[in-house]
Amino acid sequence: MIELTPHLDSRQRTPLYEQLYEYMKREMMQGHLSAGTALPSVRALSKHLRISRNTVEAAYAQLVAEGYIESQPRKGFVVKELDDDVVPIVALKPTVTPAPLPSVKPRYDFRYGHIDVSQFPLRAWRACMNEALDAPPEELLWYGERQGEIGLRQQIARYLFQARGIHCSYEQIVIGAGIHQMTGLLCQLFSPKTNVVAMENPSYDGIRTVFANHRYRLIPISLDKDGLNIAALEESDANIAYVTPSHQLPLGMVLPIGKRQKLLKWAEAKNAFIIEDDYDSEFRYEGKPIPALKALDTQDRVIYIGTFSKMLTPALRVCYMVLPVRLLPTFQQTFHNYNQPVATVVQKALALFMQKGHLERHIRKMRNVYAKKRQALIEVIREQFGEKADIIGDKAGLHLLVRFRHIEDVEELVVGAKSEGIHIYSASKYWFDPARVAPPYILLGFGGMSESDIREGVRRLKKIVLPS
Ligand SMILES: Cc1ncc(COP(=O)(O)O)c(C=O)c1O
Repeated sequence: MIELTPHLDSRQRTPLYEQLYEYMKREMMQGHLSAGTALPSVRALSKHLRISRNTVEAAYAQLVAEGYIESQPRKGFVVKELDDDVVPIVALKPTVTPAPLPSVKPRYDFRYGHIDVSQFPLRAWRACMNEALDAPPEELLWYGERQGEIGLRQQIARYLFQARGIHCSYEQIVIGAGIHQMTGLLCQLFSPKTNVVAMENPSYDGIRTVFANHRYRLIPISLDKDGLNIAALEESDANIAYVTPSHQLPLGMVLPIGKRQKLLKWAEAKNAFIIEDDYDSEFRYEGKPIPALKALDTQDRVIYIGTFSKMLTPALRVCYMVLPVRLLPTFQQTFHNYNQPVATVVQKALALFMQKGHLERHIRKMRNVYAKKRQALIEVIREQFGEKADIIGDKAGLHLLVRFRHIEDVEELVVGAKSEGIHIYSASKYWFDPARVAPPYILLGFGGMSESDIREGVRRLKKIVLPS
C-alpha cells in the first residue's frame, strides 16, 4: 500500500478535504498516481496525516463522484484510467538531465578499474558477514567508531606492515568510503595556507576534481622516464604532493629509491605533506615487491591511502588512510562530530575476513589470475601488431597502455572500435592539458575480462587499427 504525503495547511481558507482532493487529482493527472494504484484506506490515511476520517472520506467521495477513483471489493479505493478527454497536466521538467540507464555490458570491454567479479570469494564473505551479524546489537546497530572499527584498523595495520613495510598503529588509521571521500576530508584538514597541490602529469583525474572542487590550486609536474621530475617539484610553490609512487597512474613506472628520498626531503624542507595513493600495488608481476613510500617516512610527512577496490571489490566502498602522527590531533578536532561513513557490519565482516586469512589467500590467487590475463593481453598484442604497437606500464596493476605507432587520432580509433563492439579507452583524460600534450595512448584494463575475450577483443581490434 502506498503512502501519500501532501502539504495540507489548516490555516488556508480552502478546507482540508478540498486541499487533499486537489492534491490527489493533480498527482493522478501528472501520472504520479497511475491507473490501478490502490490508495491508502481512509483510516490509514487519516492516521498518517493526522486529520479526521471525515476529511479523507470527503476527499475520496469527491474523487469518486468525478470518476477519478473507484471503490473495488477487497482493494479499497483504486485509481481509474483517465478518460480520453481529460488533458493530463505536464509535470515540470527536471532541470538536470537524468543519467542514461546503464546499458548491457559490452562483451569486449577493456575498461579501467574492472575486477574479475567471477572470482569474488562469496562463500567466505557470506560466512564473515553472518558472523559479523552475531555481534551485540548495541555494537552493530549504531554509528560505530568515528575513525572506523578498531578490529578492522588493527587488521589493516598488520597487513600494511607485512605487505607494504609500513609501521603504524591502528590509531593512525582512518576508514573511509572511497578515495574521493577520503581526499575530501584531507582537503578540509589542511591549514588554509597548505593549499597548493603538485600532481604528476598525467595523473588520476578523479582526484584532480576533488582538489579543484575544494578550491585548491593544482600544479602539474612533468614525469621523467622514472617518474616525478623532482627538480620541477622543488621549483614549484606546492606544499602538498599527490603521488602514485608504486605504480604511476596511468604510465605505470615505479619511483626509484633515490627519487623517493628526494621527495621526502622536499616535504621536510617545505613543511609539506605527501599523499601516497597506493591503489593497486598488490598486483606486481615482475621484480621484487616494492615497499610503500610511507615505509621510508621517518619525518612523519606521508599520508598513505590504500583501498580494497582492486584487491577485493570496489562494491564494498572501503578504503583507508594512515595519517602522520602530527596530523592526528587536528584530524580528531576537525572531525570530532563526523560519523563514520562505512557500515559497521561491513567493517566487522572485513576484519574477520582478514583475520581468518581470506584476504591474503584471495590476493595470492588473484595475482595468478591477473598475471595470466596480463600475459594473454601482451601476447595477443604482440601477435597481432608486432612492432607496430608499444606496450607501456605493464609490470603491475590491472591495466596497461598501448601506443599504435601509426595512429595519432586516438578518439577516432575509440569510436571506430566501439562501433564494432570493442570498448577501448583514450588515456588523454589523465593529462592536465590533453589537447596539447597527451600522447596517443590507449588504456586497456584487463581485470574484468576473461582470457579468451581479451584475445578475441584484440584480434577484432586489429581490423580497425590495421584495416587491410
Ligand atoms: C589512482 C587511483 N586511486 C585510487 C583508486 C581507488 O578508489 P576507491 O577506493 O574510491 O575505489 C583508484 C580506483 O580506480 C585509482 O585509479
